[in-house]
Amino acid sequence: MSDHARRILALHARTTKYFGVDFLPIGEGVAGGDAPVSADPGGDAIPMSAAVREKAPAMVEPKVAPAPKKEVARVDRDELIACYQGETDPGAKLAKLRAKYEADAPHEAFVTGFTNIVFGEGDPGADLMFIGEAPGESEDLSGRPFVGRAGQLLEKMIIAMGLSRETVYITNVLKTRPPNNATPTQDEAMACAPYLIEQIRIVDPKVIVTLGAPASHTLLETSAPMRDLRGRFHTFPGEGEGVGGFGVSLMRSSGLSARVVMPTYHPAYLLRSYTEENRRKVWSDLQLVMGRLGLSRG
Ligand code: URA
Repeated sequence: MSDHARRILALHARTTKYFGVDFLPIGEGVAGGDAPVSADPGGDAIPMSAAVREKAPAMVEPKVAPAPKKEVARVDRDELIACYQGETDPGAKLAKLRAKYEADAPHEAFVTGFTNIVFGEGDPGADLMFIGEAPGESEDLSGRPFVGRAGQLLEKMIIAMGLSRETVYITNVLKTRPPNNATPTQDEAMACAPYLIEQIRIVDPKVIVTLGAPASHTLLETSAPMRDLRGRFHTFPGEGEGVGGFGVSLMRSSGLSARVVMPTYHPAYLLRSYTEENRRKVWSDLQLVMGRLGLSRG
């Protein structure tokens, strides 16, 4: 196998793992076979059909990350709360928090080439909040979360729940597009998490749905695979001891009151592996959420 093919396989293995499923498709011309080889034979391996593989986005060679422009600052929780104190309307609080984010620009420590900050949108008093990983290209260009292909699927999921984009709140762990859509590092997530915590404090949702591993791991402070996390509610801030950079349990020290989190697969993963089994799993996660919110399950 050429070095190039090996690099693509390694990148693919990492990406699929972060989307929540540990499997490694081996295609003709790469390793000579068509059978999926699980990176975790005892686990949640899901085969990728030829049709899905055709639809899978082209792999992009990872670029060397640009040099950080500044140190990652650890923003103080009280300073963030103070920035919106005095406001009573959650929409006005979110606007102040956004202005604070823009002034602090925590992304400047790790991202250089983005177009727009994608802070979040929806009902500032929503009962349901969706948290993704980071803006992609469409989001970067529009300044709105989840408006690309994954966003269109998310919207279908929201409508299937009997809700609309306008009645939920949608945001991401990172507020700027990482170079090459790279998975957020723990340092990046840590730099942005305090603003996410304040978004949660202000919106005060009854249920949070984390989409994919980066968002689920950030909130729940765990590195457990998605197959072990999805399908049941977790308490947030929870019992996670912190993962790497999260060792101090930022979530527990946030002073947020307990609420429930449902981790589920990221819609971008679903698009790449649009099997009945995966769709059934996500729909069953969302139905649990609907039950929790008192929405009719149809
Ligand atoms: N994927 C994400 O995680 N967030 C977006 O906003 C779009 C795609």
